[in-house]
Amino acid sequence: MGVQFVMRITFLLLLTYGLAEAAAPPMARPYCTEFCGTVRIPYPFGMTSARARCYSNDWFKIDCSTGNGSSARPFLPSINMEVLEIKIPNRYDFLSGYSYYEPGIVRVKMPIITSNCTRTGPGNGGVNMTGGPFYFSSYRNKFISVGCNNMALMTGIDPTVRVGCNSDCDNKTIIEREAKCSGFNCCQSRVPSGNQVFNVSFKSKDEEYNGSEKCKYAFLAEKEWFDSDITNPSYEMTLLERVPVALEWTVSNFLNISSSRAARRKAEWYSTSYGGRQYFCLPGYEGNPYLYTGCQDINECEKDNACPNKLVCENTEGSYNCNKQESPLKVAIIGMSVCSLNLENE
Ligand SMILES: *[C@@H]1O[C@H](CO)[C@@H](O)[C@H](O)[C@H]1NC(C)=O
Ligand SMILES: *[C@@H]1O[C@H](CO)[C@@H](O)[C@H](O)[C@H]1NC(C)=O
Ligand SMILES: *[C@@H]1O[C@H](CO)[C@@H](O)[C@H](O)[C@H]1NC(C)=O
Ligand SMILES: *[C@@H]1O[C@H](CO)[C@@H](O)[C@H](O)[C@H]1NC(C)=O
Ligand SMILES: *[C@@H]1O[C@H](CO)[C@@H](O)[C@H](O)[C@H]1NC(C)=O
Ligand SMILES: *[C@@H]1O[C@H](CO)[C@@H](O)[C@H](O)[C@H]1NC(C)=O
Ligand SMILES: *[C@@H]1O[C@H](CO)[C@@H](O)[C@H](O)[C@H]1NC(C)=O
Repeated sequence: MGVQFVMRITFLLLLTYGLAEAAAPPMARPYCTEFCGTVRIPYPFGMTSARARCYSNDWFKIDCSTGNGSSARPFLPSINMEVLEIKIPNRYDFLSGYSYYEPGIVRVKMPIITSNCTRTGPGNGGVNMTGGPFYFSSYRNKFISVGCNNMALMTGIDPTVRVGCNSDCDNKTIIEREAKCSGFNCCQSRVPSGNQVFNVSFKSKDEEYNGSEKCKYAFLAEKEWFDSDITNPSYEMTLLERVPVALEWTVSNFLNISSSRAARRKAEWYSTSYGGRQYFCLPGYEGNPYLYTGCQDINECEKDNACPNKLVCENTEGSYNCNKQESPLKVAIIGMSVCSLNLENE
């Protein structure tokens, strides 16, 4: 009887340990809702809750629309935009030894700026996020303008950096030339990094042009979205009011995590070119470095094919080993749990 009792406790402990290990580390603060609809909301972002302070600063406050279940949608009232996705900073290591750092990203829907169009767009006043934690991502976005006899300039940024593009009127060329957005009814250019303001001024490319000035559009958009989803810009822009844009976010305008705290949370940081710090989990760890629970060990052995054939996977802190054969300890534990099962069956 005594022996049976001990065995059952061992078995239960093994079970609960297995369950605890499988649970992913939290991304939101305790007592805070982690999802709005299908979008995960990691701290420092958060929604209002009666039980806890769920966001670090009003800039990161998320309003979750009162939709039904998965149809609810998150909004950032601080910049008045709908949120499509929030990613915390990340580091990817490649076998070649090369590491790639991805900043914290919040993908939002930003209004298109229009000129001389019959419709009135939602955001013709431009966007000014000065003083906040959000920056237009240079590597993920591009500047697009659609229209004829058009010269569009990004304004509001350092006046010595005039980023813009111009396009010709072309009523003879085939649509494929326009689709590449290479200067026929559509033009594109790169976006400088570290900007928090977006506004546009439209001019005529050829002042002598005697055709009527038509509707023009200008916007920032995610390169990936524009290149894969848009095939006929001058038609498709008449249907869209907002397009997906990637913003980089940083908390370091408001707080920095000390090095000792970062080490405890198994996190590191790097500084962006515009001054903000990006905190990310050390290799072999996952979680949220902006929370006290920080980053936690990844159990690589739970993934398929962690070790080549016949080698036994052993998870370690921050890494894992592929061992030649089962360690005697593991065999003993398996033996014990089988034993307790037998006892229970009796
Ligand atoms: C929630 O769902 C019900 C039934 O599916 C629908 O009648 C109602 O309008 C929905 N409410 C919102 C806010 O979407
Ligand atoms: C954008 O430009 C328009 C017209 O030049 C101006 O009225 C508006 O205030 C600007 N918006 C911002 C946010 O700078
Ligand atoms: C943006 O807002 C800041 C302060 O909120 C202001 O100082 C700055 O002039 C604005 N920039 C533009 C281009 O409107
Ligand atoms: C536009 O019209 C003016 C006079 O009305 C003329 O002098 C000019 O050459 C025209 N420009 C073009 C590009 O046709
Ligand atoms: C091209 O546009 C010009 C000016 O708007 C117009 O005079 C001409 O007829 C157009 N050509 C064709 C083929 O549509
Ligand atoms: C808008 O259209 C009017 C009349 O066609 C023209 O005078 C004006 O230059 C146009 N504005 C822009 C920004 O193209
Ligand atoms: C955090 O660190 C950054 C980069 O060193 C610095 O620019 C910023 O002022 C610091 N913020 C605070 C609140 O101390």
